[in-house]
Amino acid sequence: MSLDLLELSKTFQGKGWGESVHVLENIQHRIENGRFVSIIGPSGCGKTTLLRIIAGLEKASAGKVLLDGKELVQGTEEVGLVFQEYALFPWRTTLQNIEMGLEIKGVEKEKRREIAMEYIKLFGLGGFENRYPKELSGGMKQRVAIARTLIMNPRVVLMDEPFGSLDSQTRDAMQEFLLSIWQGRQGTTIVFVTHNVDEAVFLSDEILVFSKRPARILERFEVGMPRPRDRTSPECNRVKREVLQILSKETEDSMGLPWIK
Ligand SMILES: Nc1ncnc2c1ncn2[C@@H]1O[C@H](COP(=O)(O)OP(=O)(O)OP(=O)(O)O)[C@@H](O)[C@H]1O
Ligand SMILES: [Mg+2]
Repeated sequence: MSLDLLELSKTFQGKGWGESVHVLENIQHRIENGRFVSIIGPSGCGKTTLLRIIAGLEKASAGKVLLDGKELVQGTEEVGLVFQEYALFPWRTTLQNIEMGLEIKGVEKEKRREIAMEYIKLFGLGGFENRYPKELSGGMKQRVAIARTLIMNPRVVLMDEPFGSLDSQTRDAMQEFLLSIWQGRQGTTIVFVTHNVDEAVFLSDEILVFSKRPARILERFEVGMPRPRDRTSPECNRVKREVLQILSKETEDSMGLPWIK
């Protein structure tokens, strides 16, 4: 069983006289269910666009996305999204943010409270259930955002630089937390976009390095180290070096800075 990206291409048509932008070029890849896959690539190459296409928020110009052989329908609960900006509703408490999906789905109040409270406990948010987002730290807000997505039991979780705005200690802690949650949920696939090679190596089963726009898959790394991983181990450093080598060349090219060689 798998998430299949089949010959996906995307061009944004320019409006009026505006130029069209060719963003994705024939992305073809199979992600086996239950894997943790990171995508890394130059800024503006099309990573967010790819996640939006998988989530059904954007239409591909060509190609399709299949989950277990079936085309994904827009708004499906099988796919959940977590963005860098927490996108929490400021007027809703932690509890109300987390239970929102169940509320929309029509789960009765008592039942959804019960489930949401389980998530609050699991996510270390106990005691903060009645606080508003502005009263929470960055790490806590991101945990609320992840809990809010996972409570719907998606089979595929798309994460777009979810820890990008956190300080490095909080980020490290959140990575470990995410792994522990993911390891407790058999079969959940994570597609994780990051700019941070260290993060990709620490978290992933597999890393896809994208080219500059239009994005193609330049290289695929299988990261076989057992978990928990030591970020400073020679094995992690070796993979990091290999990814960086490809990425830094591609990023320099995409910024058009020929003097950095
Ligand atoms: N709705 C849209 N209409 C037109 N162009 C768009 C639209 N969304 C994205 N683009 C363009 O597509 C390209 C890829 O954008 P995207 O946000 O997918 O890049 P990214 O890889 O996520 O970048 P970053 O690493 O900076 O987040 C950019 O040139 C962007 O301007
Ligand atoms: Mg992006």
